[in-house]
Amino acid sequence: MSVGIDDISFYTSNYYLDLKSLADVHNIEKDKFYQGIGQEKMGIVAADEDVVTMAANAALPLLKDVDPHSISTVMFATETGIDQSKAAGIFVHGLLGLPNRCRVVELKQACYSATAAIQMACAMVARDPARKILVIAADIARYDLNSSGEATQGCGAAAMLISANPRLLKIHPESGNYTEDVMDFWRPNYRSTALVDGKYSTKIYLKSLKQAWLHYQDVGGVEFEQIDHLCYHLPFTRMAEKSQSQLARVTKTGRDAEQLNAMIEPSLSYNRLIGNSYTASMYIGLISLLDNAKEDLSGKRVGFFSYGSGCVAEFFTGTVVDGYEEHLHRDLHSKLLNNRRELSYPEYLDLYHFEYPTDGGEHQFPEQTQGQFRLAGINQHKRIYNAR
Ligand code: HMG
Repeated sequence: MSVGIDDISFYTSNYYLDLKSLADVHNIEKDKFYQGIGQEKMGIVAADEDVVTMAANAALPLLKDVDPHSISTVMFATETGIDQSKAAGIFVHGLLGLPNRCRVVELKQACYSATAAIQMACAMVARDPARKILVIAADIARYDLNSSGEATQGCGAAAMLISANPRLLKIHPESGNYTEDVMDFWRPNYRSTALVDGKYSTKIYLKSLKQAWLHYQDVGGVEFEQIDHLCYHLPFTRMAEKSQSQLARVTKTGRDAEQLNAMIEPSLSYNRLIGNSYTASMYIGLISLLDNAKEDLSGKRVGFFSYGSGCVAEFFTGTVVDGYEEHLHRDLHSKLLNNRRELSYPEYLDLYHFEYPTDGGEHQFPEQTQGQFRLAGINQHKRIYNAR
């Protein structure tokens, strides 16, 4: 029996800022963003959207042809938590009408925690193959205005069903881990924007890649030459290029620059247009690979490098299942990205500065999202969600 990803889809806001607008305002060349960090647009959440609504929107297409009673657990990975006590996934569980006989939990470790969720989900399915686990990763990447991180904001959610004999990707058991106590990126509870030591964070990311890879080799992982494609955590897509160079150095591969680039290119398309979505980024990269690769990926081995600042990293691989193409949500994804509206810079600032009221009163939020679910308001400190 194999275990892995049976279905996968993503959601992002229907608003974006073109990084050209940001470049114009800061009087810098747009190519610093388009080429230097490999980002063109960044998704910006509407006032009536948060990680819960994005997560529910991402998961909805997965529930069309599955018995909800077979879902035993919802694991919600996020670093954009909305409550210190209640798991955001419980709101999602309610919005999706999942049965009460289900467990729901939230996981946190910066951008990494969806990978922990998937590994745990695989172990749970191996114990009880009749069950499916819904893993959702959702985040809103936010940095201070005029900071180095501003151009690497974004938002999105990826939802995956983990099952026995999956239709999309078998996940192999070998995985390499690396954990080190570092302060490269963090967000204290009292802040709504992240703090980051930008250049240091990229160095730690690459160091973690090397260490996770070496551990992966020590536990019997396949060699680099046996891997066909790679999905990296994507804070910005240029990071995947830097990562490929790093792995090429470490593995002393015979592959040339063109071959190395071909291994990552299809996984970058969506993230270039969405920006960083923290926990969801690497999995949106996987969706991009599955939806956009020109070749048939059946039987191809995909390597994954998951990184979360602070830091925890993991390298593992999966093999694409024959017939996977019949189960993709490609049209839905292209419609979602093509129907977004570009924000002017002042409109971006308006959404950036929108703050949820904290006075305990009754507040309704403007109807802005085009998604199926929205955050309608807050009343007595309780978030009120509904379907559109
Ligand atoms: P910066 O200082 O704005 O940019 O910061 P730069 O000056 O280093 O330029 C970036 C690249 O653009 C350089 O190329 C320039 O040469 C090039 P490189 O040296 O890297 O090859 N460039 C140009 N290219 C073409 N035309 C031009 C031009 N001008 C310059 N005209 C930095 C970049 C990544 C530090 C910044 O964006 C940042 O602080 N980002 C946030 C932190 C981050 O994303 N870190 C990534 C690793 S940590 C991580 O992935 C975890 C994370 O997702 C959080 C989590 O785990 O929860 C962040």
